[in-house]
Amino acid sequence: MLYGRNDEQARLTSLIDGAREQRRSGALVLRGEAGIGKSALLAAAAAGVPRVLRVTGVAAESGIAFAGLNQLLWPVRDRLDALPPAQSAALRSALGETSGEQGRFATGLAVLTLLADLAEDGPVLCAADDAHWIDTATAEALLFAARRLAAEGVVMLFAARDEGFTGTGLPELRLDRLARCDAELFLAGRELAPTVRERVLREAAGNPLALQEFAAAGGRPPETSPLPVADRVLVSFQDQIAGLPENAQLMLLIAAAEGRGHMPSLLAAADTFGVGLADLEEAERARLVAVAGRSLTFRHPLISAAAYQGATAARRIAAHQALADSADSPDCRARHRASAALAPDEDVAADLQEAAERARVRAGHATAAALYRQAADLTPAREARAARLGAAASLTLQAGRLDEAGDLAVHAEKLGAADLAGLARVHAAVAYERGGPPAAARLLLDRLLFYTSYAADEERRDDLGASPILTKTHTAPLSTTT
Ligand SMILES: Nc1ncnc2c1ncn2[C@@H]1O[C@H](COP(=O)(O)OP(=O)(O)O)[C@@H](O)[C@H]1O
Ligand SMILES: [Mg+2]
Repeated sequence: MLYGRNDEQARLTSLIDGAREQRRSGALVLRGEAGIGKSALLAAAAAGVPRVLRVTGVAAESGIAFAGLNQLLWPVRDRLDALPPAQSAALRSALGETSGEQGRFATGLAVLTLLADLAEDGPVLCAADDAHWIDTATAEALLFAARRLAAEGVVMLFAARDEGFTGTGLPELRLDRLARCDAELFLAGRELAPTVRERVLREAAGNPLALQEFAAAGGRPPETSPLPVADRVLVSFQDQIAGLPENAQLMLLIAAAEGRGHMPSLLAAADTFGVGLADLEEAERARLVAVAGRSLTFRHPLISAAAYQGATAARRIAAHQALADSADSPDCRARHRASAALAPDEDVAADLQEAAERARVRAGHATAAALYRQAADLTPAREARAARLGAAASLTLQAGRLDEAGDLAVHAEKLGAADLAGLARVHAAVAYERGGPPAAARLLLDRLLFYTSYAADEERRDDLGASPILTKTHTAPLSTTT
């Protein structure tokens, strides 16, 4: 039962009814702070729809290209064969079944076709929760589809916090705090002394998760009122976790650092500390986490954040180190090694670069760019750092983010990147978008003159590789896509 969400539920119902009765499609972003009820509203909307595809963003996977799409499409992977060959190939590559560079838009188009195919038999809801943590490659594919919905009978709902997943171009529905009367109804069934009830209402300020937690804590919300309410809930969870036995706290930290809820991985890491499944029992009893089969879920992402942030830095690093040592994939290993690194480390940076290359092959350009940036941050040698920033610039350009690509190219140049031609290409593509072919050509000519003024010999000029770029500018427009 949801209190005080009649208008919001009516809007979602009308979207879904439109898909069911008139095959109208629609997309909407539910936006609001942690604990405000985004997931609850998504679940309520999904309740009456026979076909729901779900994906929930997890911070730990936000750097893994198409991790989200894997989650979303796993239940319908048998439908890929029915897609046009190019689209099926794009999805198979995104899902890691095959390799091969794919165009930036092919994956999004394939998602759209697949959703439309599924909707032949009735309305389809695609529910993307915690979209602020969904990896960029998946988010771009989903947004590509969402922006082109028409009359397929598909509804795409996204839920996101204020920070992240912005600039989608989709209509948004903001979830506000519950009104006082609805918050009172929320607490009506709970046995609380009148003064405690009043205090919970005041401190929770209409945030449903805060109402739940502060009431459960017996009306003793932490004395940190100037903090935003979500932070106060976080502190309340930290207090609760601090009251658990040491081993249970350690298990929760490992689970939070692991981030995907993959039990085999977290148990392997736990083993190195001499803790295990039995140590989770108390946290399960307190409903902080639930374990089902091979997966663990935190009841709310703020509990995971509390377990992680409440631990000391030394413990967090030890947890990531153990997770890296027992990782089941090179991408996970790279991520945990990076989280455990206290200082630049070429070995760790090289692992990240390999992860970036794997993302590139699957057309996860934005993800690959982010990994290259992270690799650059952890690279000790200036020249290698500049090269990785240069690679990040090119990939950011391929991801279609011009301003960011230009900034990265400038940064790489300042560090003395050797690939001047590659960087010139980034600048030229940005100039091409802004001012057309003349601007791009002028920029390349300026650069060529600048380079050759201090590299007078022919051989060096050829090294710069500027001539092919110039030729290309004159024969074909520089493309910002692949
Ligand atoms: N309007 C509401 N009425 C009753 N319970 C609610 C309402 N909104 C949220 N809740 C409950 O509050 C908790 C936090 O909501 P959740 O949907 O997880 O928030 P979010 O996804 O925005 O972080 C959940 O236990 C949820 O069931
Ligand atoms: Mg949620």
